[in-house]
Amino acid sequence: MKFFADTSDLDAIKDLADLGMLDGVTTNPSIIAKSGKEFLPLIKEICGICEGPVSAEVASTDFDTMMKEGKKLASLADNIAVKVPLTEAGLKVCKNLTDAGKMVNVTLCFSPLQAVLAAKAGATFISPFVGRLDDIGNEGMDLIHEIAAIYDNYPDFHTEILVASIRHPQHILQSAKLGADVITAPPEAIKKMYNHPLTDKGLAAFVEDWKKTGQSIL
Ligand code: E4P
Repeated sequence: MKFFADTSDLDAIKDLADLGMLDGVTTNPSIIAKSGKEFLPLIKEICGICEGPVSAEVASTDFDTMMKEGKKLASLADNIAVKVPLTEAGLKVCKNLTDAGKMVNVTLCFSPLQAVLAAKAGATFISPFVGRLDDIGNEGMDLIHEIAAIYDNYPDFHTEILVASIRHPQHILQSAKLGADVITAPPEAIKKMYNHPLTDKGLAAFVEDWKKTGQSIL
């Protein structure tokens, strides 16, 4: 299971890389706007830190401009995954960039039928947004279950399921149980996976008991 950081925060990306918990990075226009930084230099900087796929999203919605933007983004570094929306034009861009040997992440997926189209367009990754489905009262993880079941039926589909719009560690746990290839999560959600009150309690007891022995390992 691969962990992608859903952020453009360089410190958070470096932190996860140092922990050995970083397999890739995803960004979107909202994440870039929040950073307040210049898009292209920022993406290049992220690609310098992260060896795995770094998703950079096109900004236009028409085929011709998305193709130009996608080619420009892909030229920034070898590990760029061009992110395109799940629209007819977006899937056409996906097919063309995939045929040209580029990685493509098809984003804004909210239905299993959309995921079938993305796989047929040769997407490297499909990004189903579980949190946004939860937000409108649906069960977001049901979508992952359905896509995984469908993709399993067709060994010629090579698209990886990249669970996106993750809100909390339970989404990561459920993704792992369903065998999702990748999760992309805010770094805080990944860091929360370390936490367990019994770990804290047990460690505090071991530290106290060790003091009682009066010994030192070093
Ligand atoms: C990542 O690829 C997605 O753009 C991101 O996970 C969306 O998350 P959000 O629904 O919290 O904005």
